[in-house]
Amino acid sequence: MATQATPIVVPTDAELLQAQADLWRHSLYYLKSMALKCAVELGIPTAIYRLGGSASIPDLITALSLPVAKQQFLSRLMRLLASSGVFSVVDSTEATYSLTPLSYLLVDGIEADDHINHAPFLLTVTATHYIDLAMGLAHWFKQDAKKPPFDHVHGASLFEESMERKHPEFHKMAMQGLIVHDNFGTNIALRELSDIYQGINSLTDCCYHGDGMTAKAIVKAFPHMKVTVLDLPQEIRKIPTDGVVNYVGGDMFKSIPRAQVVLLKMVLHHWSDEDCVKILANCKKAIASREEGGKVLIGDIVLDPASEPVMFETQLLMDVCMMLMKGGRQRDLNDWRDIFIKAGFSDFKLVKKFGARGVLEAYP
Ligand SMILES: C[S@@+](CC[C@H](N)C(=O)[O-])C[C@H]1O[C@@H](n2cnc3c(N)ncnc32)[C@H](O)[C@@H]1O
Repeated sequence: MATQATPIVVPTDAELLQAQADLWRHSLYYLKSMALKCAVELGIPTAIYRLGGSASIPDLITALSLPVAKQQFLSRLMRLLASSGVFSVVDSTEATYSLTPLSYLLVDGIEADDHINHAPFLLTVTATHYIDLAMGLAHWFKQDAKKPPFDHVHGASLFEESMERKHPEFHKMAMQGLIVHDNFGTNIALRELSDIYQGINSLTDCCYHGDGMTAKAIVKAFPHMKVTVLDLPQEIRKIPTDGVVNYVGGDMFKSIPRAQVVLLKMVLHHWSDEDCVKILANCKKAIASREEGGKVLIGDIVLDPASEPVMFETQLLMDVCMMLMKGGRQRDLNDWRDIFIKAGFSDFKLVKKFGARGVLEAYP
């Protein structure tokens, strides 16, 4: 039966004028991403950092060796970026800008444990390889395609060897982007969430990826812990043994090395619900009983409509981002509950929200 029609209310003149402005903004949102990409390609965050934390437009023109004739255009770019919180205005009459925490994340060359230059992530998701997916989204919806838009458009899977063969440069950057995305916050989490690691004697980090920073950081923070990393055999073969972490080649869909606790950090959002249930069921087989402190630790986005609107918008953008590139998804608490129950867990808890992400524990 068709749902009852809601009568269409004709907007007022004021609403129509506001709507037109909103439509312009929504239609042109991509220019914010492109302006940010341009700022990074020009090296503006790094230049401001090297200039001591703030810079005028003429300072930037000189530092970046740009033609003086581009000064007024650079002013307009910086004005847009400052209105989006990428830079902050120190002095509006002099048009002097300083870094915000966001642009601090885009500075190259800061030697600090908690700083990772996020440029590879930004440059990956604003590359034509990626934008083409969004351009073709309506076409993808009309096709009976099982594969995600990325595979459909490129005939290869992001992050995988098929993509490395076809587009080696993009693959290299995407891998760096993934490492930035996955690694950032590891040290902050170990500091702020050290409680969740208390009492753990052995842990399997399911899926290594990149430079294996997570497992190494855990061993550094908790030297008594026996840490095993599981990844596909072809990935494990590339890792030099370090005598600290135990590296095991295998398939998480078949079995996971036994440990008191299994960690799934930034893994499940890559997979469908059906696949997550299979992975989680294997985690359950691998861990100790609840009485012995067995649990699965999960680090991933937890969609929350009650979060402040910008944070929720970020989470929704990351959900569509996942839909485009991997066919995975971001989940709200009900979605998480569903897959934990289907995998046979008795209980779970959202331990803490952590930026756009959350840390969950599932108990056998
Ligand atoms: C997104 S990364 C995991 C992120 C990582 N936990 C981190 O936080 O940096 C994906 C990894 O999953 C691995 N992987 C994919 N399929 C797998 C499988 N069936 N079994 C084990 N590892 C797998 C890939 O080789 C890749 O290294």
